[in-house]
Amino acid sequence: MANKNIYVALRPRPLDASSSCIENMVLRLDIEKNAVWMQDNSYSFDHVFDSLDSNALVYNVLVPESLKVLLEGFNFTILAYGQTGSGKSYTMGTHYDQSKEINTNNAGIIPRILQDLFDAIKKKEEEVETAIKVSFMEVMIY
Ligand SMILES: Nc1ncnc2c1ncn2[C@@H]1O[C@H](COP(=O)(O)OP(=O)(O)OP(=O)(O)O)[C@@H](O)[C@H]1O
Ligand SMILES: [Mg+2]
Repeated sequence: MANKNIYVALRPRPLDASSSCIENMVLRLDIEKNAVWMQDNSYSFDHVFDSLDSNALVYNVLVPESLKVLLEGFNFTILAYGQTGSGKSYTMGTHYDQSKEINTNNAGIIPRILQDLFDAIKKKEEEVETAIKVSFMEVMIY
């Protein structure tokens, strides 16, 4: 994801048994080409994940490089977009259970990035004074 100001990745939520026939009919993933097919139309993304790819993989592909840039003093934003039930909260990690380890919990982006951010700051705490401002927004459209 080097040198890209905007990077768009897709991970379709795994469908349950009752809707798997719809998946076969409507959505086909071409992981190698980072594209999805719906009927005869294809749509390209910067990255297409398989439905069963873990939150750990999603994080490792999308976030660490931007985190380095953040630690150099630049801003960045991560947002999850999709219809209700498509996996935004699951991917961002807002249901994180603090009683479990990040990896056993398949935690999402927010708890992972906070852990890496505070670990990185701790390593530099004698050299650099750090101020962190965080904003969190959930936009719902009815
Ligand atoms: N990649 C995934 N793997 C397994 N389960 C998932 C995945 N994505 C979502 N789910 C499950 O699907 C359900 C809906 O996901 P989630 O609550 O994240 O949707 P949402 O996009 O945040 O919906 P809403 O807009 O209503 O808040 C949840 O039970 C969640 O655990
Ligand atoms: Mg949600």
